[in-house]
Amino acid sequence: MAETAMVTRAIIKGTGMYLPEKVLTNADMAQLVDTTPEWIFTRTGILQRHKAADDEVTSDLATAAARMALENANMRADEIDMIIVATSTPDRTFPSTATYVQQKLGMTKGAAFDVQAVCSGFVYGLGVADSMIGRGLAKNILLIGAETMTRLLNWQDRTTCILFGDGAGCVVLQAAQGDGTVADTGILSTYLQSDGRKAELLYVDGGTSFNQQTGFLVMNGKEVFRHAVTYIADAILQVLNETGLQSDDIDWFIPHQANQRIISAVGQRIGLDEEKIILTVGQHANTSAASIPLAFSTALADGRIKKGDLVMFEAMGGGLAWGASLARV
Ligand code: UT7
Repeated sequence: MAETAMVTRAIIKGTGMYLPEKVLTNADMAQLVDTTPEWIFTRTGILQRHKAADDEVTSDLATAAARMALENANMRADEIDMIIVATSTPDRTFPSTATYVQQKLGMTKGAAFDVQAVCSGFVYGLGVADSMIGRGLAKNILLIGAETMTRLLNWQDRTTCILFGDGAGCVVLQAAQGDGTVADTGILSTYLQSDGRKAELLYVDGGTSFNQQTGFLVMNGKEVFRHAVTYIADAILQVLNETGLQSDDIDWFIPHQANQRIISAVGQRIGLDEEKIILTVGQHANTSAASIPLAFSTALADGRIKKGDLVMFEAMGGGLAWGASLARV
């Protein structure tokens, strides 16, 4: 007798990514501000970052990643019924960047909107997309993390301008029936938190309502670093606790790529084998909401992550907002 399906899961059908052509190396950064390639690499793990061309906007990056993800999933844009773009660097204040992606993909139906949770945007987006699919509001979702962070940088501030880059990553999520156990494929559990009391640790000093300026990114790096390690480790443990799994069960750890030292410290804290960590911070730098889908897409494309693997996503950033999400590929 056939088993009754218990839950609707959001399964990962395909991934895609896009990085702008122009690359700025650490040596290039040393031409702009008082720094050295060694300082940048030893303090952050960053070797280079991509920078969008002057005529490229966030929705261009997002659309390129979405096209690749659709191809990878063997699907057409007209099969998609929802687009969620996680970004803090929208094309315009409104409409949402997601609606521009919808336009550029030639779509004539479906819902499109942005999620703003800064570097945690992709993990928050996974929570939103999973809920949408779980409640039957969408069947096929494009979840995109896309950023042009270089547009927000003060190129005279050596403490921030060396850290960020541009890029986009996309996952196609699809509704599928599961039996409600951790053996299911798809998103299994997500944990999200934020603490607005710490908003001033990482912010942009402009805004539509605040002063009608775009503004520049401002960060208290040391404090953000300190909170990142504890909050991220806690979020991962919450997800493991919720699912009854151990850190040993995780096949791949796909962290937000802000700083290699943060990633290693979190790995040590939860007792994770270094070899299970997907690291792209060296090549991409910190691309905010795009960093996780870029790392995920990279490791699927090079064959490290395989069907059935259990992957843990995590992030923390401005807000402060943080979270973790566990999925079986
Ligand atoms: O994605 C959102 C989340 N963001 C993050 O997770 C970023 C978290 N923070 C960090 O990654 C690190 O705090 C940084 C990479 C930003 C900084 O590393 P740090 O080890 O915390 O350095 P620091 O801020 O304590 O600075 C150490 C020294 C200072 O000089 P003094 O005061 O010791 O003389 C800085 O002025 O390094 C100096 N410094 C630099 N030197 C060369 C700061 N930036 C630079 C630079 N080049 N680019």
